Amino acid sequence: MKHVKKENRHKREQLASYGVQLITQAPQMQKLLKTAKRIAPTDCNIVISGESGTGKELLARYLHQYSERAQGPFVAVNCGAFTEELLANELFGHEKGAFTGAMAQKLGFIEVADGGTLFLDEVTEMPPSMQVKLLRVVQEGEVQRLGGTTPIAVDVRFLAATNRNLQEAVNSAHFRHDLFFRLNVVSLHLPPLAQRKGDIALLSQYFLQRYSKQMNKASSEIAPAVSARLSAYGFPGNVRELENIIAGGVALARGAAIELEDLPDDLRAFDIKTFRRKEDGSLPSLKEQEMAYIEWVLKEVKGNKTLAAQVLGIDRVSLWRKLKNNQLIKE
Ligand SMILES: Nc1ncnc2c1ncn2[C@@H]1O[C@H](COP(=O)(O)OP(=O)(O)OP(=O)(O)O)[C@@H](O)[C@H]1O
Ligand SMILES: [Mg+2]
Repeated sequence: MKHVKKENRHKREQLASYGVQLITQAPQMQKLLKTAKRIAPTDCNIVISGESGTGKELLARYLHQYSERAQGPFVAVNCGAFTEELLANELFGHEKGAFTGAMAQKLGFIEVADGGTLFLDEVTEMPPSMQVKLLRVVQEGEVQRLGGTTPIAVDVRFLAATNRNLQEAVNSAHFRHDLFFRLNVVSLHLPPLAQRKGDIALLSQYFLQRYSKQMNKASSEIAPAVSARLSAYGFPGNVRELENIIAGGVALARGAAIELEDLPDDLRAFDIKTFRRKEDGSLPSLKEQEMAYIEWVLKEVKGNKTLAAQVLGIDRVSLWRKLKNNQLIKE
């Protein structure tokens, strides 16, 4: 870390005392974490992709923790949450008097992250003008404050996250390909929770323990009916949604266990399809069960066919064909 000033080291050591825990038992996630640990100390820039709530920021913190920069700062900035002017100000900072209202000098996130990691969240939302400026920082290792005249050397590792396909954004000219190549030295993809069903029970237990402790509640179990419902659910909001469900469940639980009545309305309202004889007493065919299940999944994911296909483990075309053959769609 060439630019880290010695006197800052001590302060930074105190800052980096957190431990990031990424809970998983899914083989594809274990593989991903192994890769993450291997590349964390290499200082290369990384793009993390994955649906909302899959753990992109957590993985970024994990990479930071296992890097040579672990004692340095981890700074997160949401590139989609600011207007263009505000984002420039947040990233690059300004000199006193740079614009009306700039009463004092302000350090930008890039300078604050010196000696550490800058996490660029929702990177595809970054306006084109900012992409040019950022490219310079990534390439030259220098930043210029708004209204400033001299470039300041910074030593920052960049981790970027997106819930869109960054390569597609590059192809459609929304994202500069030169910046993409600089950031995307390695890419890591987090699979949706629905594709690692085994993690649902494990994460539920983890959040249960965390929130009972945090909320000072004695809830220590999840009722079997709740577990069954959770493992059947599609989780369009991924791990964040599961976390919120368990946190809410702990808060509402009256006894030792989270019961069905402690779940959010929509989760409580759906009834898991059980096997029943048909009205005429005969047993349903596999096809009939299949369609009932597809309909239920579609309802769960609010009609999102791409997501439904993902949950069902079939491609969109097959899903469409099944729906069409069963007259569930017309065209
Ligand atoms: N494997 C995991 N183990 C423990 N906690 C997790 C895991 N994955 C995600 N979480 C938790 O789920 C929540 C959402 O994760 P995070 O904020 O990292 O997701 P994200 O992909 O950045 O979401 P978004 O795209 O909405 O910003 C956080 O509270 C995080 O701590
Ligand atoms: Mg995030």
